[in-house]
Amino acid sequence: MAVLEQLFAHWQSALLAIIPLFAYYLLQKLKPKQNDVKRFADFPQPEEPDKTRGHWPWIEKAAGEGEAGRSFGSKRHLARIMGFVAEQVTRATKQYSTSVPKHPAMQDLAPLVGSRSLVTLDGDEWKGLRKRILPGFQPQHLLSLVKVILDKSQYFIEHLERLAASGEEFAVDELTINLSFDVIGIVTFDMDLNAQIPGQQSPLLTTYRELSHAFVKRDNSKHWVRRYFSENERQIRKLDNKLDAILKENIKREHAKLTKGDATASRSVAALSLHGIKKLTPEILQQTSDTCRGFLFAGHDTTSILMQWIFYELHRSPHALKALTEELDSVFGPDTNPSTIMARLLAPGNGELMGNLKYTDAIIKETLRLYPPGTTARLAPEGSGTTLTMPDGKQLVVDGLVLTPRAYVIQRDPAIFGESKDDFVPERWLGSEAANIPESAWRPYERGPRRCTGSELANMEVRVVLACIARRFEFVKVGRGELELDEDGSPILNEKGYYKTKSEMYSTDVVTAKPVDGMKMKVRISERAKANV
Ligand code: HEM
Ligand SMILES: *[C@@H]1O[C@H](CO)[C@@H](O)[C@H](O)[C@H]1NC(C)=O
Repeated sequence: MAVLEQLFAHWQSALLAIIPLFAYYLLQKLKPKQNDVKRFADFPQPEEPDKTRGHWPWIEKAAGEGEAGRSFGSKRHLARIMGFVAEQVTRATKQYSTSVPKHPAMQDLAPLVGSRSLVTLDGDEWKGLRKRILPGFQPQHLLSLVKVILDKSQYFIEHLERLAASGEEFAVDELTINLSFDVIGIVTFDMDLNAQIPGQQSPLLTTYRELSHAFVKRDNSKHWVRRYFSENERQIRKLDNKLDAILKENIKREHAKLTKGDATASRSVAALSLHGIKKLTPEILQQTSDTCRGFLFAGHDTTSILMQWIFYELHRSPHALKALTEELDSVFGPDTNPSTIMARLLAPGNGELMGNLKYTDAIIKETLRLYPPGTTARLAPEGSGTTLTMPDGKQLVVDGLVLTPRAYVIQRDPAIFGESKDDFVPERWLGSEAANIPESAWRPYERGPRRCTGSELANMEVRVVLACIARRFEFVKVGRGELELDEDGSPILNEKGYYKTKSEMYSTDVVTAKPVDGMKMKVRISERAKANV
């Protein structure tokens, strides 16, 4: 545990500890029992299982391959079968109208994701809650929130200006995580988290961070009764209650405004979910509070990872940066000043402008294809007789098994993405080529009834940020993944048209699949933007 504690000494790392813990739990569950080898003999396998150790030797080998910290899912994979099977796990079926149930281990994360939140609930309670939540995430509605998203992006831009002036090295993830927190707070429950203003972070945010930090120190090896009285557990309960109280107070206030017909009532996701609710029952209050907590969890890291990889890929791919620049020039005109673009995004017709950002959209899509940040974990209950059909028609009973689609593998299937499967090619999402990609081959938000509700928000946030900064700032990777330079200090193109790098940048599994070094970069003002002012 000492090593773990050191590893997770920083708050950011705090959240990150969850996936290893979760993975450990899953692996414990997965440890082969003697008769498992026989039971699963019919399942597609990476190699012949060992008589007593099952696939442990294979797991050890695969884990030891390449860079030690590299995301496991990206090292080796079972087969293409996964794409075919993933769809059966996430879609509604006769047996499961809400798709295969969430893995119960999700509940172990309750302090972070909310025990009765949209992320964790299942069955009818989840259905009712999802219906309440969806209106706030509709694209048309989100468009009315461009102003607040821009306000929060302004802080992000100011940080970049400062870092460009000083020329110092920084971890991009610190900036993008703070930005994503700010956007989630304002859009989903209308609170200013002030994540991007050092020293002025809101009590809600500092509480959430403290809670995450305490949570990863939880000693899961202790029996829960003994654990209950530990100092750490008292701390978790205290912070859990504090967070709940802050959220509930906000929800009650919004509900009161709504019932009075107050014109200043918020248009946040949470507030909209209370429309038509006459009486705020303890149940609805709890669901809403927990769901806001779930938004904080589900939205900040994922969106932040997406931005980090986009900045990196644009840095490496001159053709993509050029195409993006041309699109922004044609949609917003030649002035690259962020304030000019913000003004255009606030003017009437902004929906049309956003809709014209086709290449920007393709960049987002392609980045999520190469670097999907998250996944889902489902469990078919023992005795439920849940079956998956293999491509050859064979039926396999998967009761009691953890089912977790590997988007990383599915989204790099050579049968679908061809020779360029590992390359950043936004163009593949435009024109006639796009029609040949089956929808189920792209699943960063997962699919089916439990698909991520925040995809439109993430997409809009990133489009807005790229529109404002892509022509003004140039990101330069330092350390891992940095560009190789020739004698004149210029980057060198490889045969595919990307800049050569000294080493490969990759993601590592820490809750989500995160860029290994937090994306250490420098930023500078582009030559063009210098000429612009
Ligand atoms: C690039 C950004 C994002 C990615 C890649 C992502 C990915 C995912 C994935 C893979 C799931 C699991 C779906 C399943 O269990 O089948 C999920 C669920 C969810 N996400 Fe996201 N997400 C992102 C951003 C956001 C944001 C910004 C929010 C909200 C502010 C959000 C809210 C949620 C919620 C509430 C769920 C649970 C939905 C349900 O079970 O009904 N996500 N997301
Ligand atoms: C981001 O948030 C962290 C944690 O609250 C804070 O320490 C840091 O100052 C923030 N950074 C920026 C650039 O806003």
